[in-house]
Amino acid sequence: MFIGDLRIHADANTLIEAVASRWVDIANEAISTRGKFHVALSGGSTPRTLYNLLALPKFAEHIPWDRVHVYFGDERTVPPDHNDSNFRMAKEALLDRVAIPLAHIHRIKGELEDPHDAADVYTRELTTNLPLSAQGVAQFDLLLLGVGTDGHIASLFPATPVLHERARLVEAVRVEKLDCWRITVTLPVIDHARHVLILISGDAKAPIIRDVFATRRTPPFPVQLINPQGVLEWHLDQAAAALLPEELRS
Ligand code: 6PG
Repeated sequence: MFIGDLRIHADANTLIEAVASRWVDIANEAISTRGKFHVALSGGSTPRTLYNLLALPKFAEHIPWDRVHVYFGDERTVPPDHNDSNFRMAKEALLDRVAIPLAHIHRIKGELEDPHDAADVYTRELTTNLPLSAQGVAQFDLLLLGVGTDGHIASLFPATPVLHERARLVEAVRVEKLDCWRITVTLPVIDHARHVLILISGDAKAPIIRDVFATRRTPPFPVQLINPQGVLEWHLDQAAAALLPEELRS
């Protein structure tokens, strides 16, 4: 498995501070080099504290928000004001608190009746707004990911057909075990991002992190399928890293 850069932080606060600083650095590098910063947010619970922190002046004032374009790596099939909406979480924690133009917020329309339509609409949103990588794939400057206790990333869950998708950028996926549909970017989009930052916190994630780093499972965990063309950084806190072998933790 491609490991990339593994960084273990003392605790959850130090982890979030470090990732917020990386965000600022990557944003300013993209803006000074290409004029814009295209970032895909992850959902779930872990990134909420990061988004809250980025909205604070000590970070927000170092980001030219008028040059930032925000997207989402995946979304639940719910309206934007629903409790389960990744957009709503990010809006309340960050987007409502910084001077980002509304036109620069590219959310996934989880409320559409047919999730396949939502995937097609979002594919057009990405191909219309994102630059292309050298291989011609829509390219984010930064894509944030969390990892589920089953090894899923975005809404790429174990044993789902979307894991084999190599052409489409966005897919609607049926997640039987959650009895729901999700809309998610596919592995090619993740692989072609300039920077992929994986953010993992808490002891509940220690067993999956041990297994992801230690075992070459068949079939692999979805997170083990990442093959980044750009930079991959794992940011863990000590609790999430607790079961890693000593040589990886030192
Ligand atoms: C989602 C996320 C998902 C998340 C993991 C980890 O929509 O739920 O995109 O991939 O990152 O499930 O979630 P937690 O941070 O809540 O553990």
